[in-house]
Amino acid sequence: MAQAQSAAPAPENAPFEVEQVFAGTCGFCHSDGGRAAGKGPQLMNSPRDDDFIRSRIKLGKQGAMPAFDGAFTDAQIDLIVKYIRALKPREG
Ligand code: HEC
Repeated sequence: MAQAQSAAPAPENAPFEVEQVFAGTCGFCHSDGGRAAGKGPQLMNSPRDDDFIRSRIKLGKQGAMPAFDGAFTDAQIDLIVKYIRALKPREG
């Protein structure tokens, strides 16, 4: 048998593809890349400030959204916040 392999979704040196991560991890509840409401609210044009968004991702909300503290580094969470801020309606 080969050595034990980490179950982590991506090795630390892999590029962090925020759009793919969002689609795979958050898209189940935040539809269309965060552009539309699903089980969770629409994130595009969120009136929340960055600190709120950051802490919601880290801590989740009991009974509503899982906590992702530990799943992502602070730097990765910053990239997710930037991604949410940059969301625009799809063309066409
Ligand atoms: C199991 C469903 C689920 C998943 C998966 C999920 N969320 Fe959520 N999310 C929710 C729900 C439900 C809320 C609303 C919570 C509340 O009542 O404040 C929410 C709220 C949020 C908010 C706050 C929005 C606001 O205006 O209050 C942000 C930001 C957010 N989610 C980001 C993410 C990100 C980023 C991911 C992936 C890393 C993610 N969510 C994964 C269900 C989910």
